[in-house]
Amino acid sequence: MDLYGKMAVTQDGRQKDSPDQNFDYMFKLLLIGNSSVGKTSFLFRYADDSFTSAFVSTVGIDFKVKTVYKNDKRIKLQIWDTAGQERYRTITTAYYRGAMGFILMYDITNEESFAAVQDWSTQIKTYSWDNAQVILVGNKCDMEEERVVSVDNGRLLAEQLGFEFFETSAKDNINVKQTFQRLVDIICDKMSDTLETDQGVAMGTPNAKLTDNPSPPAHTDCGC
Ligand code: GTP
Ligand code: MG
Repeated sequence: MDLYGKMAVTQDGRQKDSPDQNFDYMFKLLLIGNSSVGKTSFLFRYADDSFTSAFVSTVGIDFKVKTVYKNDKRIKLQIWDTAGQERYRTITTAYYRGAMGFILMYDITNEESFAAVQDWSTQIKTYSWDNAQVILVGNKCDMEEERVVSVDNGRLLAEQLGFEFFETSAKDNINVKQTFQRLVDIICDKMSDTLETDQGVAMGTPNAKLTDNPSPPAHTDCGC
């Protein structure tokens, strides 16, 4: 399914003429990582500000939409939550194409999920665009007593893979919004690099703040 086509958005995320004019850009993002690391919980925390300790493993794939604002631009985030279980791999990797950003998640209390990060990274390289931006996330940082992956090891692996890094907690709402904010920022920066020469489109205000609400009209910079 090509939602970019359906929503009349060009592959670099810019909107074409379309009846659906209620956003300026649409970014397709994917959450990936082993089963039970907390991908669905992370998305629910971000989109609905809710959390449940019950574990209902995702079947296949699901998505939520959230609109954020960067300066005066409306960015629709289409966030795909993939099943971590191996048996859904064929379905989930089909959605990698066209994704502009990935949140690759492990669980800081689960060594196996951390050891699998390299494989997930290879999946991204195999199935997605070269330009896709990736943030490595060590989730469940509220469970300090059960930690088996140190912050340093997480950061080191992220550096080796060329990814940015956050430790988060979907449960305690730590760094959830910041992770999405950073991902949108680095996608915008990448777009800015790509589009710099595109008919004088003024792209990229690197430190422009991403918010959930429209900014006042005083801003003149196009942040994205
Ligand atoms: P799959 O859908 O099978 O790929 O798993 P998932 O990565 O979506 O995991 P899910 O979000 O369903 O969470 C798995 C379990 O971890 C659930 O019981 C959650 O309540 C719990 N959990 C998720 N995030 C956190 C967190 O930040 N802290 C703690 N303590 N528990 C969490
Ligand atoms: Mg899930």
